[in-house]
Amino acid sequence: MKKGRVFSGARPTGRQHLGNYLGAIKNYVALQDDYDCVYCVVDLHALTTLRGTEHLKEWTYEMVLDWLAAGMDPELGTIIFVQSNVPQVTELHMILSMVTPLGKLTRLPTFKEKVQQQPDNVNYGLVGYPVLMASDITIYKASVVPVGVDQASHLELTREIVRTFNFHFGPVLIEPQAKYTEIPKVLGIDGVNKMSKSLDNHIELASEPDELYARVRMMVTDPQRQRRTDPGRPEVCNVYSLHNIFTPPETVQQIDADCRAAAIGCVDCKKVLAENLAGHLAPFRDRRAQLAGDPDHVWNVLNDGAQRANAIASQVIAEVKTAVGLP
Ligand code: TRP
Repeated sequence: MKKGRVFSGARPTGRQHLGNYLGAIKNYVALQDDYDCVYCVVDLHALTTLRGTEHLKEWTYEMVLDWLAAGMDPELGTIIFVQSNVPQVTELHMILSMVTPLGKLTRLPTFKEKVQQQPDNVNYGLVGYPVLMASDITIYKASVVPVGVDQASHLELTREIVRTFNFHFGPVLIEPQAKYTEIPKVLGIDGVNKMSKSLDNHIELASEPDELYARVRMMVTDPQRQRRTDPGRPEVCNVYSLHNIFTPPETVQQIDADCRAAAIGCVDCKKVLAENLAGHLAPFRDRRAQLAGDPDHVWNVLNDGAQRANAIASQVIAEVKTAVGLP
């Protein structure tokens, strides 16, 4: 017997990187043991920031292929689907917008950030982004939502929307709990910014060993360690923080000591990391290649997911409309 339903969504961004894996996918996989999981490719959300939409299909395919290769698995009961394939969520979005104060939306830090990032494209959808997110979660009556801390204000708003809705129309919707991921921030190879595809500072999970090494070689290390003979400071080095995740503890200890004593150079240290990363990701790469052998597989999974999601969403939207009093 499972403990309840989990929902999470991610915008279609194509091949996934280490930051996506450590910050989200790893959790998505683990939660399948204890929960009925619903994982959604939020393509409608993506429209709020995308200018060209010609990549949406390809990026959906590549992302879901990575998800499946990483162990998100419909055979375990998990529903994986594309948001726009279950359009009931847009109906709920409209209804929930009526119980959402506009000021709350325009005061959100995430909204203000977007206004700064794209001042010439402050569209209506951007304002409603968190309401659509609330609809995603509540139309599946999810009780647990694994997200990064950057989504905290959206989860809080979702809970407020649910309380307001239920206060006016009766106890129909479920107030979800956020489940924040433990590794909040994976830095990119620049060692400064959060790993992200748009900054091109990422390391893709599907990389071949030589590509992995090429990316790791580009990583910024301790800026004060300019010469090979300078002692390093592992605590400020992003290569070291990845060692902590992908390298056995005894080796990490050795690297820590050798770096501080300038007994190992950054090049060698990176070689060790690249090898360990390649080893870690080998089963993933194999599984990915195997799944990609059938080009229809991803779309079949998504079709099946959409049907199962549809069954839940249809029922909940009917309950909502009845509660509101729509004839
Ligand atoms: N806003 C989320 C993000 O950018 C994506 C998202 C959309 C989401 N709908 C969701 C996350 C519902 C959790 C639940 O990461």
